[in-house]
Amino acid sequence: MDKVLARGSGSAAARSRPRTAVIAMVAGAAVVAATTAVATSASAGTTLGASAAEQGRYFGAAVAVNKLSDSTYVGILNREFNSVTAENEMKWDATEPSQNQFNFTSGDRLVAHAQANGMRVRGHALAWHSQQPGWAQNMSGSALRQAMLNHVTRVATHYRGKIDSWDVVNEAFDDGNSGARRNSNLERTGSDWIEAAFRAARAADPGAKLCYNDYNTDNWNWAKTQAVYNMVRDFKARGVPIDCVGFQSHFNSGSPYPSNYRTTLQNFAALGVDVQITELDIEGSGSTQATTYGNVTRDCLAVPRCNGITVWGIRDTDSWRASGTPLLFDGSGNKKQAYTAVLNALNAGGTPPPTTAPPTSAPPTSTPPTSAPPTSAPPTTPPPTGACTATFTTNQWPGGFVTNVRITAGAGGLNGWAVSLTVPSGSAVTNTWSAQASGTTGAVTFRNVDYNRQVGAGGTTEFGFQGIGTAPSGTPACAGG
Ligand code: G3I
Repeated sequence: MDKVLARGSGSAAARSRPRTAVIAMVAGAAVVAATTAVATSASAGTTLGASAAEQGRYFGAAVAVNKLSDSTYVGILNREFNSVTAENEMKWDATEPSQNQFNFTSGDRLVAHAQANGMRVRGHALAWHSQQPGWAQNMSGSALRQAMLNHVTRVATHYRGKIDSWDVVNEAFDDGNSGARRNSNLERTGSDWIEAAFRAARAADPGAKLCYNDYNTDNWNWAKTQAVYNMVRDFKARGVPIDCVGFQSHFNSGSPYPSNYRTTLQNFAALGVDVQITELDIEGSGSTQATTYGNVTRDCLAVPRCNGITVWGIRDTDSWRASGTPLLFDGSGNKKQAYTAVLNALNAGGTPPPTTAPPTSAPPTSTPPTSAPPTSAPPTTPPPTGACTATFTTNQWPGGFVTNVRITAGAGGLNGWAVSLTVPSGSAVTNTWSAQASGTTGAVTFRNVDYNRQVGAGGTTEFGFQGIGTAPSGTPACAGG
């Protein structure tokens, strides 16, 4: 949290709202504690949110916006929780039902409710193979890549400054023992789609923590857990902007709570990311269920960088797995044994979160560079010569753009290529895929990467970039080797 506040002043100001609310709750709880100390020496919170706040954490719930008119539901939400996640309303199918036609009505309702009640918001989910609108399901290749990055940029920009943590990429790994990526239409655009999504999200909302979120990553010994761990380690080593890992933690008999869960959280945190329990539900009932809920809560509290817990719904009847009665309140809204186990675990305390800003890679600047572009020639190798042509399409909106460039090789084919464009003054390229850019503004040359160096006679290849400000116009110069 401190790390995020250390970022640009605009985002810090924006992010201070939920934080202020949490501080106020902590302060409020402290006042209550001080008042009652003489009689009881107790400082226990009486709600999940207040007790988590005393531990420097949040306690959240997934919310279905159409239930905000249910007074029992809202009563529990406002009393117990200090963080919300949209259960479905910020997903791709909900926010961009037709390409480039965005609908934020339901998501905005949730954000307004959260802000009015001092809750923070987890954003869920920007890029995911599931719950894609039909038009995206039918896309592939660079068109899908461009559409995905456009979606990430537009949604994260819309909610800029209002989201505590975004699930930037959700469920990108296979189940089972392969440790492989899930074979989805997004994966088939090139395995760098995940880091491209993170870079786009960072450029759009530098103040939000950016998370990778998945299920069946709770058991440290599972191949999927190891595969996600290796990806996060690689991202940290290469400066890909990732801040947190979400553990969905949907537990049942087929996917039980593992005894090494705390180890998993600790090992990920040791990579230099925060960890969050993002979709907790535990099928079962009575004391067995309560014990597991208590264990999960204690595991989070034992890991300083475990920021908080979100349960995936409020009452059992609100759950996507309602028949498994996996939540903290019964269908009538009564507290279950599991609720008491969580509250007791929170009140028993744990290891506080770090008080100093944890190390992080510097976020990119969120405003266009004001200094002049470099005047010295950047390329170390001469641009290739040869015949090619380049055309591009641009999606421009107020303040930003995504451009997709298509290169067509001449009769001699290409062994390396370079495309030059002029990015207008005051505008800047913030993210490039399938090419390497020589700079961010002014005269920018995009060169091939290894895999698209060679293009056969008359063949095509594509790359793209996104930016802030105004997109380049005019005819791009294409040189080929
Ligand atoms: O709103 C329509 C309704 O009008 C229609 O009559 C009905 C018919 O099936 O569907 C309703 O939409 C459903 C929606 O939930 C709202 O209830 C969708 O069919 C249904 O697919 C959708 O399920 C959601 C599921 O994600 C989809 O993948 C669940 O609510 C939601 O809890 C669940 O959440 C996911 C996380 O995003 C990612 N991790 C796993 C988690 C559980 O599956």
